[in-house]
Amino acid sequence: MKVLGIESSCDETAAAVVEDGRVIVSNVVATQIPFHATYNGVVPEIASRKHTEWILPVVKQALSEANLTLDEIDGIAATNRPGLMGSLLVGLTFAKTLAWSLDKPFIAVNHMLGHLYAAHLDRDIEYPYLGLLVSGGHSIICKVSGYDDIEVLGTTMDDAVGEAFDKVAKFYGFGYPGGVAIDKLAKSGDPKAARFPLPNLYKGGHEYDVSYSGLKTAAINQIDQFWNPGFERTPENIAASFQETAVRILLSRLLKASRDTGLTRIVAGGGVAANSRLRALLAEEKGLECIFPPLKLCTDNGAMIAGLGYRYLADGITSPLDTAANARVEGFRKFGRPRA
Ligand code: KG4
Ligand code: ZN
Repeated sequence: MKVLGIESSCDETAAAVVEDGRVIVSNVVATQIPFHATYNGVVPEIASRKHTEWILPVVKQALSEANLTLDEIDGIAATNRPGLMGSLLVGLTFAKTLAWSLDKPFIAVNHMLGHLYAAHLDRDIEYPYLGLLVSGGHSIICKVSGYDDIEVLGTTMDDAVGEAFDKVAKFYGFGYPGGVAIDKLAKSGDPKAARFPLPNLYKGGHEYDVSYSGLKTAAINQIDQFWNPGFERTPENIAASFQETAVRILLSRLLKASRDTGLTRIVAGGGVAANSRLRALLAEEKGLECIFPPLKLCTDNGAMIAGLGYRYLADGITSPLDTAANARVEGFRKFGRPRA
């Protein structure tokens, strides 16, 4: 079965064709980064306008690179949540219209579950495992028992990890997107230049939750307080010290979740899963099997949406054509989460 996947939740207009949930036949990503770089962040209005301009050419290119006509497509999947509302609506409405006009099945896909599926495009992965979903909008540690069976164990109490990378990079003028810029600078910096504190939040919050507002404030407003004497205040040293703490916050909660649940297989997804320090530190952990998607599939793409769309379709699950867009994550099972 060949599924066309459409993704437009943030600042990438993307479409892909995936066969049987595994074979990426085409994968086109039109990035809007240059349009948002001037502002050091995604401007929702610009994002929606660019999606509107690019959605048709991007879908056409995905089909032509796959050497397929629309008639040969078995289903159309699109992200309907979470994301920027104006951005989501473009891809979702396009996909539903296409499905309606062609009388083909339509499948609405949760973007975060899509990120998790990205690693499955590359290899067979057995369930259950621990999922680490880290992007510009989310930081989620979850138990994954199936492609649509997710138990959220922990999430962020404030900023998402990618958001912290982006904000620190913006403040210091490191470049955009911030995560990519910091990762690159950090390679020639010393992570011991500053000793930023780890958040002390596990008393009141959930024990697998993370927090990034403290680190962000420390790195931006209180850096003098945490800077170690003898280290030069270079962009490389700031980036390396910030990144080290950012990654260790995730690691400490993830390793605790692994010890408590007995799950030793970890699958990462989302833009921050591209981080080289996160990958290196997890690779050092003995007794864990850590699976990362290829770098290209960490950030937003249509292949992860098409791949997951296939799974639903193969199980006979489709979505109605009045499926709405939703800016928030929905459809996660949230066990053990007493907070509203
Ligand atoms: O998954 P994604 O493309 O979009 C969202 O769903 O949010 O993730 C984008 C986020 C941005 O915050 C970006 O700075 C971060 O992923 N990112 C990275 C790296 N590459 C992208 N963060 C840390 N290290 C990287 N190498
Ligand atoms: Zn994403």
